[in-house]
Amino acid sequence: MISRRGLFAGGAATAAGALAAESSARAEPPAPARPQAQVPSPGRVEPFHGAHQAGVATTPQAHAVFLGFDLLPDTRREAIVRLLRLLTDDAARLTQGRPALADTEPELATNPARLTVTFGFGPGLFTAAGVGSPVAALPAFGTDRLEKRWSGGDLLVQVCADDAVTVAHAVRMIVKDARSFTRVRWTQRGFRSGTRRNLMGQLEGTVNPTDRLDRAVWIGQGPLRGGTTMVLRRIRMKLETWDAADRVAREFTIGRRLGTGAPLTGAAETDEPDYARKNHLGFPVISEYAHIRRAHVTDPALRLLRRPYNYDEGLTEKGGSDSGLLFASYQADLARQFVPVQRRLAEGDLLNEWVTTIGSAVFAIPPGCAPGGWIGEGLLT
Ligand code: HEM
Repeated sequence: MISRRGLFAGGAATAAGALAAESSARAEPPAPARPQAQVPSPGRVEPFHGAHQAGVATTPQAHAVFLGFDLLPDTRREAIVRLLRLLTDDAARLTQGRPALADTEPELATNPARLTVTFGFGPGLFTAAGVGSPVAALPAFGTDRLEKRWSGGDLLVQVCADDAVTVAHAVRMIVKDARSFTRVRWTQRGFRSGTRRNLMGQLEGTVNPTDRLDRAVWIGQGPLRGGTTMVLRRIRMKLETWDAADRVAREFTIGRRLGTGAPLTGAAETDEPDYARKNHLGFPVISEYAHIRRAHVTDPALRLLRRPYNYDEGLTEKGGSDSGLLFASYQADLARQFVPVQRRLAEGDLLNEWVTTIGSAVFAIPPGCAPGGWIGEGLLT
């Protein structure tokens, strides 16, 4: 179970740790160089085996790489099973701080840094395996400006850890083993801040399902039982024009304060927004078109589990920003949970003035597996 307290504690602990390290570095002369520990410390290892895959309810790590693969033509079920057995083995080892088989840099495997490797299957994988797909492509939304290079994909591998070198190493091992069956369609690299702020400066992650994940996130029956679905949207931010908007306009757009993350009708981040409250002119304090009102879902069992990462690819040739949000959400039912929220946002979210969705992909996230098993075994055999 993921709790908001847990989510925050991760960030706070990191920040506190950094502060402590900084102040002790100031107070003391540098310690003599010591050999690096070769065994992973248990606190920094996320379990791999279990009813659910890790990387969904896991407290978000600082770094992520989302890899979208396409299967090579004529890759059928038998080859897909071989591929998934190989990749499951890589993930089971690397997440526990052990090198992959034939690891070219085994030293890089000893710092798992809460590494998780999560697999998702796009509709094309099921078709290639000759099995009916439990997920369908999303409907078109009017505000989407999708680019093929950031969209679709047969197989998702989501790699997250608190150390960017750990992520890079795991990605390299996985791509190496996937090479004879797939080609890489896209690589999307993201990062999160311990402050929980995105690149627009807003506090994120205030409202997420905190309990009843067994209803909101994990699927309760059928072949995907214990799994979930994932949507990955690449949303570009127009930071130049956002920077030009004043603070009042920015807060009105979301419906929350920039400083505290409190709703415009409250004082603290965790205060419930009062959507009925009117200002002295009779208009709602939280606009009909504010992002949080459009996105709000009353029934906690129907909420999306959002686990977004920021992206920043530096400057474009014209000197503009190329940054935004890798919006990742997990929900038991795409059609009942994600689609209605995205439709309401497309129809009238003030934020649309500054954000454009340029990539989109959906995946079935199979349940976890037991030691000796492989991800997807209940779905493809
Ligand atoms: C770049 C794009 C986006 C930005 C900058 C953004 C930002 C935010 C912020 C600052 C909040 C308030 C704090 C929080 O609860 O996390 C929020 C809430 C939320 N957002 Fe977004 N968001 C974006 C895209 C999306 C998309 C694509 C969806 C779903 C289709 C979405 C769904 C939600 C939901 C469900 C909430 C909680 C609403 C509630 O209070 O019940 N957001 N978002």
